[in-house]
Amino acid sequence: MEKIYLDHAATSPVHPEVLEVTFHVMKEHYGNASSIHGFGREARKLLDEARSVFAKSIGAKPIEIVMTSGGTESDNTAIIETALSRAHFGKHLITTAVEHHAVLEPMEYLESMGFEVTYLPVDETGLVHLEDLIAAVRPDTSLVSVMYGNNEVGTIMNIQEIGAFLAETETYFHTDAVQAYGLEDIDVKQDAIDLLSVSAHKINGPKGIGFLYINEEIHLPSFMRGGEQETKRRAGTENIPAIVGFQRAVEITEQERSKRRETYDGFRNQLIEGLKQAEIDFEINGNETHYLKHILNIWIKGVSSEQLLMNLDLLGIGISAGSACTAGNMEPSHVLSAMFGKNSPRVKESVRVSFGLGTTTEMIDEAVKQLSVVVKRLKHS
Ligand SMILES: Cc1ncc(COP(=O)(O)O)c(C=O)c1O
Repeated sequence: MEKIYLDHAATSPVHPEVLEVTFHVMKEHYGNASSIHGFGREARKLLDEARSVFAKSIGAKPIEIVMTSGGTESDNTAIIETALSRAHFGKHLITTAVEHHAVLEPMEYLESMGFEVTYLPVDETGLVHLEDLIAAVRPDTSLVSVMYGNNEVGTIMNIQEIGAFLAETETYFHTDAVQAYGLEDIDVKQDAIDLLSVSAHKINGPKGIGFLYINEEIHLPSFMRGGEQETKRRAGTENIPAIVGFQRAVEITEQERSKRRETYDGFRNQLIEGLKQAEIDFEINGNETHYLKHILNIWIKGVSSEQLLMNLDLLGIGISAGSACTAGNMEPSHVLSAMFGKNSPRVKESVRVSFGLGTTTEMIDEAVKQLSVVVKRLKHS
């Protein structure tokens, strides 16, 4: 049987055009963008062009885009550098209980250094409530970090409302847009976002490249030290081939955005209908109005997600529990725990299916078929 990859929220394959342009630049334009000779200037020109494309895609200025190694570095930079450089202003930070570990762990690190962090709760659909945020903000709150769209359950947060509220305060607003970028219309000025994290590999770009948008009025020290690249905001020779590949991925995504949204929503519905027809006892985890179209998280009642994933893997089907899998051990999902309580059976009986480049309706049909067989077998074993 042909393998079926339905884990695009973890990472998505590189688009063939991205591959082509990345190789081409790697081979032909090897200059260092900081060199003053012609080879360097050529690389610099490519970098400047790419930066303009990234900026335009979120309504920002090119100077506000800092290239990074991806979502994790962007999140770490935004959170740690804001906290440290604004410590004189205040040592209180706010985030949510359902963020990616790339946000939660920097927060925990800052707590160990004497900062105070408030973790906002979410409701059963994974949404944070504005009233809770308003109640938590204090005169010494230096930063609020709320993700744009959740990577496990797909819930889209009320970013515009949060931005509008924080715009009236001295608190900076960071959002992790790693899953939402490319599928949602993001405008950092309209949404009053000060810092925003993006990663290329979720939108069919190369791995290990991303950017951090930093509002031009904000001056963050460099997270990486040892060079003056990125106008002294991120040391290290820029990865021009990956950056140009990422640029191509953004351009393709922009052309295809509405089509992709429609297609992924179609896959989502097809999967839901397929499971209903197969009489699988399941419920959707997440918000049924505000959701990322490429993610579907389902609670399959009475079936361990770990066993289900392992059985599907044997059949060549890749889906995820949405939770960290370390050395064969599955950590219970902190997102589902925050939504339903850590003792809810959903925490250990839910799986995430996610769509992207290369997904077909035939794959969804086959995945539903195999999933139904496995679920019925596991229930009767
Ligand atoms: C919401 C979110 N933030 C951050 C990251 C980390 O991004 P990267 O893999 O580019 O470091 C991910 C990746 O899974 C993610 O889903």
